[in-house]
Amino acid sequence: MAATPDNMMDKLVSLCKRRGFIFQSSEIYGGINSCYDYGPMGIELKKNIRELWWKSMVYERDDVEGLDASILMHPKVWEASGHVEGFTDPMVDCRETKNRYREDQLMVYTPKSGEGLMYAFPEGNPDYIARKLKKAKVDISQYELHCLTEIDTAEYSRIVGPDTTTPGTLTEPRLFNLMFKTFMGPVESDANIVYLRPETAQGIYVNFHNVREASRQKLPFGIAQIGKAFRNEITPGNYIFRTREFEQMEMQYFVKPGSDEEFFEYWKAERLKWYDRLGICKEHLQFHQHGENELAHYAKAAFDIQYKFPFGWSEIEGIHNRTDFDLQRHEEFSKKNLKYFDQESGEKYIPFVVETSTGVDRLLLTTLSDAYTEEEERVVLRFNPTVAPMKAAVFPLVKKDGMPEIAQNITAGLRNKFRVFYDESGAVGRRYRRQDEIGTPYCFTVDSQTLEDGTVTVRERDSMAQERISKDKVMEYLEERVV
Ligand code: GAP
Repeated sequence: MAATPDNMMDKLVSLCKRRGFIFQSSEIYGGINSCYDYGPMGIELKKNIRELWWKSMVYERDDVEGLDASILMHPKVWEASGHVEGFTDPMVDCRETKNRYREDQLMVYTPKSGEGLMYAFPEGNPDYIARKLKKAKVDISQYELHCLTEIDTAEYSRIVGPDTTTPGTLTEPRLFNLMFKTFMGPVESDANIVYLRPETAQGIYVNFHNVREASRQKLPFGIAQIGKAFRNEITPGNYIFRTREFEQMEMQYFVKPGSDEEFFEYWKAERLKWYDRLGICKEHLQFHQHGENELAHYAKAAFDIQYKFPFGWSEIEGIHNRTDFDLQRHEEFSKKNLKYFDQESGEKYIPFVVETSTGVDRLLLTTLSDAYTEEEERVVLRFNPTVAPMKAAVFPLVKKDGMPEIAQNITAGLRNKFRVFYDESGAVGRRYRRQDEIGTPYCFTVDSQTLEDGTVTVRERDSMAQERISKDKVMEYLEERVV
């Protein structure tokens, strides 16, 4: 059956498990909700995505430095950043099913007449409610759509929750802090509470002067970091899209106040260009500007880059104008001077920050979704070769006449630079299919002609076109095509 938006995720999840990209965490114990492990192919893909980001952020620029701050930080950091007070989501519970929803992610069909039952469903899933309304013999044209946030709690008794047929089971919204807490040291008291960082950005702000002094950077300049972040999400889901443990790639660009809007536009354009390098189809990307109600507590302006997933358009990256909010607050809470002395103008000021923030796991899902292609006889992951987990495969056509030795020799040479798979088992057609399913861009086959003239067959993944090249040119061939 061909992939449709409905079954595409199921197919992808199944391929990811079968071919070693992603496994459910603790599977032998029945799994743990929203936690995943990356298998042999998954970690390669992840590493390549990270490297492409790091290359464009740090290696190819003079004005961005790297950092790796610790996950556990002084608890005051999170008071200063506003996360202790403000990093909350309003949630509603269903008393009957015990399911929990984010208030701002529940949509409600309300009768135009103003009387009668209302029907709630999770955002992004209108088919779900259409089926439910049909079953309840309700005429959808007589209803209007609202977000639950717009409905007065006095009206909740009329709402039928997403997973029930009884009205009035939803509780009033309550605020829920998304930070994971733990204790530092053996004593479990309030004085010893520490948080697992919910974003990597704060590690950058508290090191602003350390990095600036050590690297002798002047404004404008940025600090980039890749690392794990943790959020006790109320509604994790869509496979690895929203999880409670994930990895972020964040860059904070410090600028002179007043130039922030110009750099905000600059980074929007830069980041969109980067997705082209990742190999993501342009038509599957769009910007979404945050409205007043969506803005995070630190942001003056924010744009998301959204990707068209099988489950709908969803955020993969946030670009934020964080103003001087964070540094200002850290100056206030730490009582340390975090101002920048501008040697040109002689002024002292707290820099403004333009942030670009994306998630490695989310980009892995983006890359997989965008690459997944079904053809008549095969499934292919059409990765950009730069991020493909395996860059090439080498096969001897048969296991005799010295072919395995030549193929192993070629493999050993390529392994000095590339991740390469050697495979001598089964029919060659099946070996090609196995490589297609993990997105290997090139396969080299040693056959009887190799023994005569020293050439091998190269088969290109997407076109399946074949050509012959000298076995001594295999490395050069790959170097030209895989950067
Ligand atoms: N420092 C700013 C910040 O953290 P955000 O919009 O909350 O901003 C940025 O997150 C990116 O981090 C998102 O675009 C997404 O790629 C990733 N991300 C956030 N929460 C996530 C989650 N629960 N699971 C996976 N990735 C997540």
